[in-house]
Amino acid sequence: MITLEKFEAKDIQRLIAWVPDADFLLQWSGPKYVFPLDVKQLTATLEMTRAEHPSQFMFKALLDGTTIGHIELMAVNYVEKSAVLARVLIGPKQYRGQGWGKMMIQLALHFAFDDLELEKLNLGVFAFNKSAVQCYKQFGFKIYKTIPNRKNEGWTLLRMNLNRSDWIHTIKIDESGE
Ligand SMILES: CC(C)(COP(=O)(O)OP(=O)(O)OC[C@H]1O[C@@H](n2cnc3c(N)ncnc32)[C@H](O)[C@@H]1OP(=O)(O)O)[C@@H](O)C(=O)NCCC(=O)NCCS
Repeated sequence: MITLEKFEAKDIQRLIAWVPDADFLLQWSGPKYVFPLDVKQLTATLEMTRAEHPSQFMFKALLDGTTIGHIELMAVNYVEKSAVLARVLIGPKQYRGQGWGKMMIQLALHFAFDDLELEKLNLGVFAFNKSAVQCYKQFGFKIYKTIPNRKNEGWTLLRMNLNRSDWIHTIKIDESGE
């Protein structure tokens, strides 16, 4: 069973260790971070989570007490009631492809729509990242823009969005995730 907890300073080194190279950093987090990911960059993001009405939320995902994932809400706009779902990661490779990513995303969507009462989310994902695209589609995210060659050939960026009214709250999670 996956649970989300607030990401803290003590979690920084583990997250850094999950990012092996510059291409993976871009695939996972987009262009804002520079490889190698380091304490300074993550501390700066963490600082943004500490405001009274934060524009940024960072979570770690735990599986039976072991931290295996990371997920964020960025650019939270309390007037527009919008945010960006971002930095979605199941860190250790052996935990990928077992339904944990979907479960983590499901929890983050409940946080965004139920707790923060947002109306819309968007995200960016590279088209080659089939498992990520598949995860997002299952919750109702739709592609609204395709940007070719974002980095170079083969790095087509998909912009996807999800309105509260189109949100599929509960999807099938495979047996390992039940
Ligand atoms: C993306 C990520 C978070 C997904 O988590 P996960 O635990 O591996 O994914 P899940 O097992 O929950 O679900 C994967 C889904 O993709 C599907 N999938 C996997 N490979 C696929 C492929 N080549 N084509 C289509 N679908 C595929 C799986 O079948 C599953 O869907 P299903 O439930 O309908 O069968 C994880 O793989 C990851 O951390 N990747 C590296 C970081 C990254 O790229 N993050 C996304 C940034 S936008």
